[in-house]
Amino acid sequence: MCGIVGYIGNKKAKPILINGLLRLEYRGYDSAGIATIENDKISVIKNKGRVAELDKVPGINDLQGTIGIAHTRWATHGKPSTENSHPHTDMSKQIAVVHNGIIENYSELREFLQKNGYTFYSQTDTEVIPNLIHYYYEKESENDKELKLLKAVHNTCQDLKGSYALEIISSLLPDKMIVVRKDSPLVIGKSATEKYISSDIPAILSYTKDFYLLNDNEYVILSKTNADFYDKDLNKFNKPVENIAWNAAAAEKEGYADFMLKEIFEQPKSIRETIGSRLTQDGTCNIEGLNFTKEYLESLNRIYIVACGTAMHAGLAGKTIIEKYCNVPTEVDIASEFRYRDPLIDEKTLVIFISQSGETADTIAALKLSKAKGAKTLAVSNVIGSSITREADYTIYTHAGPEIAVASTKAYTSQVVLLAILAIYFAKVLENKKYENEIKELSREILELPSKLEEVLKNVKPIKKFAKKVYTEKDMFFLGRGVDYTAALEGSLKLKEISYIHSEAYAAGELKHGPIALIENGVTVIGIMTDKNLVEKTISNVQEVITRGAKTLIISNQDLGDHKFDNVVTIPETNPLISPILSIVPLQLFSYYISKEKGLDVDKPRNLAKSVTVE
Ligand code: G6P
Repeated sequence: MCGIVGYIGNKKAKPILINGLLRLEYRGYDSAGIATIENDKISVIKNKGRVAELDKVPGINDLQGTIGIAHTRWATHGKPSTENSHPHTDMSKQIAVVHNGIIENYSELREFLQKNGYTFYSQTDTEVIPNLIHYYYEKESENDKELKLLKAVHNTCQDLKGSYALEIISSLLPDKMIVVRKDSPLVIGKSATEKYISSDIPAILSYTKDFYLLNDNEYVILSKTNADFYDKDLNKFNKPVENIAWNAAAAEKEGYADFMLKEIFEQPKSIRETIGSRLTQDGTCNIEGLNFTKEYLESLNRIYIVACGTAMHAGLAGKTIIEKYCNVPTEVDIASEFRYRDPLIDEKTLVIFISQSGETADTIAALKLSKAKGAKTLAVSNVIGSSITREADYTIYTHAGPEIAVASTKAYTSQVVLLAILAIYFAKVLENKKYENEIKELSREILELPSKLEEVLKNVKPIKKFAKKVYTEKDMFFLGRGVDYTAALEGSLKLKEISYIHSEAYAAGELKHGPIALIENGVTVIGIMTDKNLVEKTISNVQEVITRGAKTLIISNQDLGDHKFDNVVTIPETNPLISPILSIVPLQLFSYYISKEKGLDVDKPRNLAKSVTVE
């Protein structure tokens, strides 16, 4: 996820672009850049770091152009650096592009262009785009320059696999800008003599309330006074102007009341990004950055998964899948414990570190310890170029996009998905024949997760209703067995974090060994049941608490037989190994609605920080 802004009008573009970028920084903040056109020449200024740093780069205030594009980056391909920052230009520096999204087939396209004499200066997926436009422009027989460039952009987009919102300026057409989108957001604000382009409305809401809301595969040629729209086959059409009555703060959250709610609802999309092209329908599995050999994986006597908080809970869900398909004992450890307990580590140990931010102090310390003891280390992170990714031998990214709310939601589901894909990758390298069919089936189920998540997110009402009923409670309990227990732990953590209600998660079978003494009239118990083999057992445990007067909420995708429970949230069926990815969502929403009922600050809960960089 990145943020893009553009401007054409009579004013100097630079201040408007910087102002827009500052408002889009929540979408990415590892580097930024702008390009303007002046005297038919493109000038590009870019820099690693935040937008405020870009604004200090010498020469930036000299940019006089009244047409420009800008970008704030959330790195996906290539570490944060000035070379990898946008805008990117073609080799001849006649075309400049900013891009939000991911080009999945960029390696192929890069190879093709290299064979045709093009040179690349960055490690990004984006740099293929201006060069491909240049390639097609040169081949195009059209005489009209505007149509020629549009056709070159159109041809380029036919070659791109993945997602993109693009702003394109060119010294070949110095008074115009071409924009297009597919699976990445882009809006155009308008006044009589100006056009403002942005990834989202709030960045430009202070300039205009009149917008063109672009759909996928629509192309626009913009000038100060005009916007010409073309469909996917380059047929011209008219687009109505929409008047947006939002205030800027609400719009930044794309209409959601809080970042946490926005991030919960983003999960179908973030999971799609996590899967990317790593898994395919025909069962292939490739993870960029990994080149483990069969011999190495066979040599392992132990895998540790080490993390903190939510990331540790994701590790617990991943452990079961990795252990099952790789046949290597896999332990999950809390980083702050692991680093001080002299763990059994040698060169036959693989240690996987999970960290959304990649900056958690205990996780980094545990990583350094593991390396010092001779283990190979693998980082799973959401932030490109973060500290753990720089330390680890291998890194794989969740690509969930920036997570702003302190309570982690979309990062968790992406971490579990990525661990499941990692388990499949390991099994393939190990040539695990025993589970071949099961693994194929699991791959298929993973690919279906985004649409199943969309279904889960349609069923909010019963969760909201139950939250209203119980938000004044002081204690709550979460029960589950197997992977449902791992989801229970994460559900309970969410509740503590944002509602300040004391809660405990128990493996349902442990209930009788103590916790049931706490159950009395009116206590709230949340039961999770997604495993056919365990559902009857958990049902009995839930019946035991109901008999003692508990109010219950059941999250399940199983046949509950004749059991009549008062509050049941049904989620789609899936392979139980990956069911936490679905079952956690009602629990995230449950905590969210309780927090709202209590009038708390959902995004910034008391005493908590998003990134814990101290011990
Ligand atoms: C903090 C955050 C949690 C997060 C944990 C680990 O406690 O509030 O949401 O799960 O740190 O963070 P990491 O960035 O390492 O995943």
